[in-house]
Amino acid sequence: MWLVVVTAIVAVVLGLRFAYRYRIRYCTSMRKLHGKTAIVTGASAGLGKETALDLARRGARVIMACRSLVKAQPVAAEIRTKTGNRNVEVRHLDLSSLASVRKFAQDILDSETAIHILVNNAGIFGSPKRKLTDDGLEITMETNHLGHFLLTNLLLGTLKASAPSRVINVSSDLHASCKTFDPDDLNYEKQPYPGPFKSYQTSKLANVLFTMELSEKLCGTGVTANCLHPGAVSTEIVSKNPTYWWLTPIMDYLMWTFALDVKRGAQTQIYLAVSDEVDGVTGKFFDNSQVIEPSKLAQDPNLARRLWNASERLVNLASEEKHY
Ligand SMILES: NC(=O)c1ccc[n+]([C@@H]2O[C@H](COP(=O)([O-])OP(=O)(O)OC[C@H]3O[C@@H](n4cnc5c(N)ncnc54)[C@H](OP(=O)(O)O)[C@@H]3O)[C@@H](O)[C@H]2O)c1
Repeated sequence: MWLVVVTAIVAVVLGLRFAYRYRIRYCTSMRKLHGKTAIVTGASAGLGKETALDLARRGARVIMACRSLVKAQPVAAEIRTKTGNRNVEVRHLDLSSLASVRKFAQDILDSETAIHILVNNAGIFGSPKRKLTDDGLEITMETNHLGHFLLTNLLLGTLKASAPSRVINVSSDLHASCKTFDPDDLNYEKQPYPGPFKSYQTSKLANVLFTMELSEKLCGTGVTANCLHPGAVSTEIVSKNPTYWWLTPIMDYLMWTFALDVKRGAQTQIYLAVSDEVDGVTGKFFDNSQVIEPSKLAQDPNLARRLWNASERLVNLASEEKHY
């Protein structure tokens, strides 16, 4: 009897794992990227590392924008060895610091004549408690949305001058769990901090709304902006930011059992960065390399405009920093 039950459970688990993994569409584009420059944020691990590896393999100059140089340098060395592409380098970027974002962007503007691909990939799971950065901003929202918002704006002039070029924002299907969103309370000053799950989901909704408004503002410039859900992928994101100590091993086990490996998980962002099937496609949300509808809230143009304006205020975007 027990043998039958255990066998059935194992069969169901393996079936689910198989079904989820093998539905993934691999990016089949053969496009080479010699002479192109790509920036990938959070390329020291997980999906960002896999994306940087793929772009380097295609011959791009890859700038890995990472908060820990100690962690990222060996990853860059590994990518150079695996791909034979010497044009892979690490630059320091801490998205939870507006000063760091401005410094990184200025370094890029000083050294690069073109940017063809910007993958806004870095992210953290929601902070267990409301935590403000030195900028006085809630850390999950600053890392996942506001830092990328500022970075993209500061690089926009060069992205436009390099067109056709692409901005890819890594969001999540968890954005759809948000049933309300107040762009004028990104710091949780009016409402109580909603906890790690909700604050993560809200920051991921902000990624989608930012993409929609950015694509509107860039209409006709040759710069496209799209966002995506990579799938549930077995990476460090949960274990690095433990909410409850007992939850981390359970989550790690569940992710290892059911979720995608990073190679599969990175396919949609690689597809959006390189495929000619998405030449000129903009303002869309992708899952498994296909356009899908984001949540109703994420499609509200009024909300997207309000988020843009609130974000400009919070990052103190100066008029000379506006390139749209
Ligand atoms: N994994 C999933 O199931 C899943 C699902 C949906 C969406 N996503 C999204 O996918 C993206 C990549 O996540 P992942 O799963 O690959 O996680 P990961 O393995 O934890 O990688 C996250 C990357 O972001 C970097 N990062 C974190 N805070 C940063 C900061 N303040 N400044 C600069 N870089 C920072 C990390 O740097 P360190 O190495 O220094 O920590 C790391 O390189 C995130 O935006 C996440 O929300 C993931």
